[in-house]
Amino acid sequence: MEDLMQKIISLAKRRGFVFPGSEIYGGLANSLDYGPLGVELKNNIAQLWWKRFVQTRNDMVGIDAALIMNPKVWEASGHLKEFSDPLVECKKCHERFRADQVESECSNCGGELTEAKQFNLMLKTFLGPVEEKTNEVYFRPEIAQSMFVNFKQVLNTTRRKLPFGIASQGKAFRNEITPGNFIFRTREFNLMELEYFVEEKDWEKWFEYWQNEMREWLKDLGVNLKKISENEIPEGERAHYSKRTVDFEYEYPFGRKELYGLAYRTDFDLRNHEKFSGQNLKYRDAETEEEFWPHVIEPTFGLDRSVLVALLEAYCEEEKRVVLKLPFKLAPYKAAVFPLLANKPELVKKAKEIYDDLRKDLMVDWDDRGNIGKRYYSQDEIGTPFCLTVDFDSLEKDDVTIRDRDTMKQERVKTKDLASTIRERLAN
Ligand code: GAP
Repeated sequence: MEDLMQKIISLAKRRGFVFPGSEIYGGLANSLDYGPLGVELKNNIAQLWWKRFVQTRNDMVGIDAALIMNPKVWEASGHLKEFSDPLVECKKCHERFRADQVESECSNCGGELTEAKQFNLMLKTFLGPVEEKTNEVYFRPEIAQSMFVNFKQVLNTTRRKLPFGIASQGKAFRNEITPGNFIFRTREFNLMELEYFVEEKDWEKWFEYWQNEMREWLKDLGVNLKKISENEIPEGERAHYSKRTVDFEYEYPFGRKELYGLAYRTDFDLRNHEKFSGQNLKYRDAETEEEFWPHVIEPTFGLDRSVLVALLEAYCEEEKRVVLKLPFKLAPYKAAVFPLLANKPELVKKAKEIYDDLRKDLMVDWDDRGNIGKRYYSQDEIGTPFCLTVDFDSLEKDDVTIRDRDTMKQERVKTKDLASTIRERLAN
């Protein structure tokens, strides 16, 4: 199983999904960069999520907020005080570990470990030219707070009624003690979060509803639900703001670990932001005229972990090929166009016309190297659903062969029907 992780990492690097960050300078502490194919896969997942949870719902709106917020936000949210992991240090080699991830001695040199002390995970920097305490700020460790801080503005501008949600996607930063396992744990990562505001009496119903929505999303991502376990987090292990948490855990090659989380944050955040800001952050029921802080159900989705799981689930070794059986919607390229022979200008010309036309609408690749078989396998390895070949018959009949990634079957389709045929098949 560990082996599968190595295969994914090597494929990701070789084909341009994910590169080690700053590699020409020897890298930087598990930072990773998305390459040309990775950025397409990541964006496709993020867009599918937005479509499912914002675009197609009338109880949801989106925002996109700054990465650095007023430091008072983190005082009010409790992150300054509570957002920490227990850290131990080896007395001999001074390597640092998360106390809950290490045995009784240093795994590096066998040295004795210090007592655990709490280490705040927020990444600090200075805003402005003077590096002094008053200019200290933090990169956001979660997106959630931007949605609480903007709650009243969203309410005023969209006039939503409960229940409704605010969604957002973007970067979050955590000064993890032990980043690792490729894009599973990094210090800078991508999150997709939504805060769903409800009346307190309804929280259990909505918790269950969102638990189910998260399962449905996992199916979109191509995940076999048998590899998912939903783990009820006991009191004492939950985040400081949560009264109930269910972690969605996935069977990774390196063990069963968190993929997503679902939390009942109560009215903790709005209540505290009102206390710290002095602004009224209550919701006013138009009928009863009652004012109260709504309670919050929060489904949270790591985007990088989604990319990792999509790759792990899609990776398939068959007798003669490696194929990424990504759901079509997620595939970086939807089609690839090949002229049968690169040295026949009439084939290249027709193939180029098809390529340019399809590219107006879809991500399409071009390949005119080597033989057709090799080009097919090269596209299989990156999950391209359809390969289109322009051959000599195409010049006479104005058609192309379309070859399906999964069945490997080929058929001829008229050029004029190509775009609609592909669109239809992608939708299924
Ligand atoms: N607002 C709730 C929240 O931030 P979390 O469980 O701490 O909850 C949310 O983080 C999600 O972010 C996790 O379920 C996971 O998918 C992802 N995540 C957390 N830390 C990460 C890291 N260091 N690298 C990559 N993804 C991470």
